[in-house]
Amino acid sequence: GKIPATLIPGDGIGPEITAAVTRVLDALGAPFEWDLQQGGMAGIQSAGDPLPGALIDSIRRTKLALKGPLTTPVGGGFRSVNVRLREEFGLYANLRPVKTMVPGGRYEDIDLVLVRENIEGLYVAFEHFIQVGDDPHAVAISSGVNTHAEARRIVRFAFEYALAHGRKKVTVVHKANVLKALTGLFLQAGREIAKEYEGRIAMDDRIVDACAMQLVMNPWQFDVIVTTNLFGDILSDQMSGLVGGLGMAPGANIGEKAAIFEAVHGSAPDIAGKGIANPLALLLAAGLMLKHVERDDLASKLRTAIEQTLQVDNVRTADLGGKVSTADFAGAVIKRLA
Ligand code: NAI
Ligand code: MG
Repeated sequence: GKIPATLIPGDGIGPEITAAVTRVLDALGAPFEWDLQQGGMAGIQSAGDPLPGALIDSIRRTKLALKGPLTTPVGGGFRSVNVRLREEFGLYANLRPVKTMVPGGRYEDIDLVLVRENIEGLYVAFEHFIQVGDDPHAVAISSGVNTHAEARRIVRFAFEYALAHGRKKVTVVHKANVLKALTGLFLQAGREIAKEYEGRIAMDDRIVDACAMQLVMNPWQFDVIVTTNLFGDILSDQMSGLVGGLGMAPGANIGEKAAIFEAVHGSAPDIAGKGIANPLALLLAAGLMLKHVERDDLASKLRTAIEQTLQVDNVRTADLGGKVSTADFAGAVIKRLA
């Protein structure tokens, strides 16, 4: 039967890549019955709200969404709709796999998974300014929040993922030398949970700055990485660079009340409207969504078609050194599905 799911095209390149992805999913025979909803700038335009009630209601009903990127203004304006959605639906785990699919890049045989804590840390954004003299913004203050319970839950998620997917090691990434409370607690939770998996899944830890260097020098030493919200945001963009860039990196936001699948990248205003964006990150996210609804058969059929398009047909978008458009890339994948 059909599975109701919310579809949010989003901003910038969002509508272009969403159109490409839904075409491919139709050709694949994916079981989703889309409920189209607007959010972000598109939500402001259509409903006067970056996070319209209709969008929330839709996800509350479907518990499942495929989401294009949503633009968040820098500085003032409204709070990130992505962050608010993660909070609203308790999407505590952000799963971000990176895998080499295009040979001949800077790195070969990359196959890593980053698990990002998705609702705590510095992204709770308890922020304010303090006025000194006549400067209202003389001092900026931000407090992060990590809880023992949430840290244990996300680390457990990483270990369970490792077990279920034949992975060997979980690396806990932190800054416990400086942020002794905020990320020391995270490391402590990592050590506690690791004991339960002793003999099955190995555990080690890294300080985030050294980890960033090691990801460039020798990324193969890692397997599954679990880390706090801000570090996970940064490291996942970095890790996408190991496999060809942001056009290759999918993400799954998973919680008890819903799951939202999206690309790691944003709305890419620099290339929006040109029809040249790589739809693969969102297409791979749709693959994660198919696995989530236990259609592994369709997910692997999709992956094979993508690999053949990239590796046999040599059809690639500009970010991967190719020259086809977003729509033509989708067309090439559809040909491989036939
Ligand atoms: P971005 O990820 O949109 O773009 C960074 C660079 O990567 C740009 O040069 C862009 O052209 C390129 N790029 C990204 N996706 C691509 C694709 N599919 N194909 C080819 N090239 C691609 O990051 P930026 O510019 O910092 O952010 C733009 C907006 O997106 C901001 O408003 C930000 O808040 C928002 N954003 C939204 C996210 C979400 O909805 N989950 C995640 C990240 C950013
Ligand atoms: Mg990010």
